[in-house]
Amino acid sequence: MATLLYVKANPKSDQESRTFRISEAFINAYRKANPGDQMITHDLYAENIRPITAEQLQTRYTPKDESVRQHPIYKYAYEFKTSDKIVIAAPMWNLSFPAILKCYLDYIMAVGITFQYTENGPVGLCQGKKAVHIVTRGGVYSEGPAAAFEMGDKYLRVLFGFLGITDFTTIAAEKLDVIGTDVEGVIAEAIKKAENKGLNF
Ligand SMILES: Cc1cc2nc3c(=O)[nH]c(=O)nc-3n(C[C@H](O)[C@H](O)[C@H](O)COP(=O)(O)O)c2cc1C
Repeated sequence: MATLLYVKANPKSDQESRTFRISEAFINAYRKANPGDQMITHDLYAENIRPITAEQLQTRYTPKDESVRQHPIYKYAYEFKTSDKIVIAAPMWNLSFPAILKCYLDYIMAVGITFQYTENGPVGLCQGKKAVHIVTRGGVYSEGPAAAFEMGDKYLRVLFGFLGITDFTTIAAEKLDVIGTDVEGVIAEAIKKAENKGLNF
């Protein structure tokens, strides 16, 4: 039995958010294909994820033993470490993703849990996991002149690579805020891709 971690970073509801329409299609397909798997869902806004505080930082370099597993600064990292598959659903905001997702990532990047330092530099401790990033964008950043400005998917890919996760897939629906776009058509296409991936993830 695998554990899938589903991280949602958007203040909108599942019905309002175009990103969540696609990610929910992924999740429904995944559930259908893997009814016995465990699923952990984090709606970062509902959980009111906040930036790390100075007090929380003080515990960052202390030894990690059983007693810190439920500490707010570590529980997300332990959970990430014990999950097999990760789904991140976040719209593009200001060339990246909503800041609340960065706050969450600051929690999962934990020395001694998700990565470690060695004589040869940092080494990821999350090898073998798979990740999917589901994103919608107002413009087009997957190709063309704005591709170099895209920093959300790129950042996630690099950060997850740092943790040892190299199986990283992006499902993007783009151009959704450009006048004349067949928005429902683009979303339907992305939902189809998400369902296929969800059935085979
Ligand atoms: C605060 C904010 C910032 C945004 N920044 C960008 C951006 O930099 N580039 C872009 O293409 N679209 C941008 N958008 C548009 C959204 O990415 C797009 O409308 C997306 O489909 C919204 O997803 P949602 O329906 O899941 O909220 C932004 C939207 C918001 C609300």
